[in-house]
Amino acid sequence: MLDLTLAQRIVFCALLGSVYASCPPRCECSEAAHTVKCVSKDLRSIPIGIPGYTRNLFITGNQISRIGPESFKGLENVTNLSLSNNRISEVESHTFSGLRSLRSLDLSNNQLAVIHPEAFTVLNQSLRELNLSRALYNHSSVMDLATSLRWSSLGNLQGLDLSDNSLIYLPSRIFSHLTNLRRLQLSNNSLVSIHNSTLSGLERLEQLDLTLNALKTLTDDGLQELDSLPRAELLLGENPFTCTCGIEPFTVWLNRSQERVRDVEGLVCSVPADMRNTSLLAVGTLTLGCHQRDAGADLALQTSYVFLGIVLGFIGLIFLFVLYLNRKGIKKRIYDLRDACREVWEGYHYRFEIDSDPRLSGLDER
Ligand SMILES: *[C@@H]1O[C@H](CO)[C@@H](O)[C@H](O)[C@H]1NC(C)=O
Ligand SMILES: *[C@@H]1O[C@H](CO)[C@@H](O)[C@H](O)[C@H]1NC(C)=O
Ligand SMILES: *[C@@H]1O[C@H](CO)[C@@H](O)[C@H](O)[C@H]1NC(C)=O
Ligand SMILES: *[C@@H]1O[C@H](CO)[C@@H](O)[C@H](O)[C@H]1NC(C)=O
Ligand SMILES: *[C@@H]1O[C@H](CO)[C@@H](O)[C@H](O)[C@H]1NC(C)=O
Ligand SMILES: *[C@@H]1O[C@H](CO)[C@@H](O)[C@H](O)[C@H]1NC(C)=O
Ligand SMILES: *[C@@H]1O[C@H](CO)[C@@H](O)[C@H](O)[C@H]1NC(C)=O
Ligand SMILES: *[C@@H]1O[C@H](CO)[C@@H](O)[C@H](O)[C@H]1NC(C)=O
Ligand SMILES: *[C@@H]1O[C@H](CO)[C@@H](O)[C@H](O)[C@H]1NC(C)=O
Repeated sequence: MLDLTLAQRIVFCALLGSVYASCPPRCECSEAAHTVKCVSKDLRSIPIGIPGYTRNLFITGNQISRIGPESFKGLENVTNLSLSNNRISEVESHTFSGLRSLRSLDLSNNQLAVIHPEAFTVLNQSLRELNLSRALYNHSSVMDLATSLRWSSLGNLQGLDLSDNSLIYLPSRIFSHLTNLRRLQLSNNSLVSIHNSTLSGLERLEQLDLTLNALKTLTDDGLQELDSLPRAELLLGENPFTCTCGIEPFTVWLNRSQERVRDVEGLVCSVPADMRNTSLLAVGTLTLGCHQRDAGADLALQTSYVFLGIVLGFIGLIFLFVLYLNRKGIKKRIYDLRDACREVWEGYHYRFEIDSDPRLSGLDER
């Protein structure tokens, strides 16, 4: 009874095949919404057979560790791809090249340790949004990232999220090829300063978020960098601003740039303790005890004091040495001097006695 003819078997297999092709196992597909979701299903790799109509593809919360060019074949209509909350540690060059309509790529919450130079290349330069929030394995990945941001032809990218990544510094000119970038999130990293040409090439930037970093102040170089982003609104809160002399140029700049710094009212000193919670805008009017001297001049002054001390000490040593060499002569002179003093003293004493004793003076008259 279960004996199927060959033709029946072929039809059966074809049906089965088309069922599989219509939606991969452990995924939910909606043709009407052009959406495929494979969420928290313990997948170890990108499922095969994702339908061609897919525009929104979510493969999130799985155990995927590697992706490459073969992972996304025939998905020319995908515009939004989220691979967040996986264990992706390596992204090969041209992994997303075939996704020629891709506009938004979310790789947040992964462990990217190796990023190949053309990892984010998409034919047609269609990528607009790239989310790498909490995506880097550690700070070392930032060098790979800088290379791939340069080589991946991201000239149309408008939003880049690099928040929550423990970045300590940004390589020079890391964003210089992202000439259309509008929004850059760098919050919740460990950035300690903004250097010359850290932000070069971002003339069109509209929003820069630097909250929750390790900025103690912004140096003249850093302020110049921020001034090179004429249109960008800035967020600078939750940094450990240190209100000592060095911060004055920054507070003056803040006062001048109030309309650009969206959270300017909330910026406060965190160190020293007696200035904690003081508004940075108010610091400029208080005296930090710096007067006109800046930290550099202070240091120069200290150095010159040290130098002076050394020179004086040296002269003193030479003096003592000369004294030591001449000790015999000096001893003799001291004795001579003492004798001379004694004579003078005795002479004086004698006259004093003569002058003060009426009897003696009387004697004289007699
Ligand atoms: C992509 O979408 C277009 C238009 O909706 C459609 O004609 C084409 O077949 C789709 N591509 C694939 C691989 O399904
Ligand atoms: C797709 O990404 C765009 C940003 O490019 C976003 O505005 C849109 O909401 C996303 N759509 C879905 C379904 O996630
Ligand atoms: C390239 O992108 C433009 C818009 O950015 C789009 O109109 C065009 O269809 C894309 N070409 C291909 C081959 O996907
Ligand atoms: C990037 O992803 C994180 C976590 O998934 C999310 O909180 C954040 O809003 C995303 N960034 C953007 C710009 O959408
Ligand atoms: C980052 O991880 C790699 C691989 O484990 C390691 O070699 C490197 O020293 C780490 N870098 C930092 C800054 O921790
Ligand atoms: C900052 O990022 C770390 C991971 O790098 C995360 O654990 C922490 O919750 C984040 N803090 C905030 C306020 O987002
Ligand atoms: C930064 O650039 C300015 C001129 O634009 C220059 O005076 C300064 O020395 C540079 N700083 C560094 C650390 O290269
Ligand atoms: C600083 O301000 C925060 C929040 O406004 C408050 O919780 C904290 O107690 C203040 N600290 C001091 C030392 O005033
Ligand atoms: C801030 O700028 C205003 C003019 O815009 C000026 O009157 C004021 O003195 C400045 N305050 C400080 C602390 O420099």
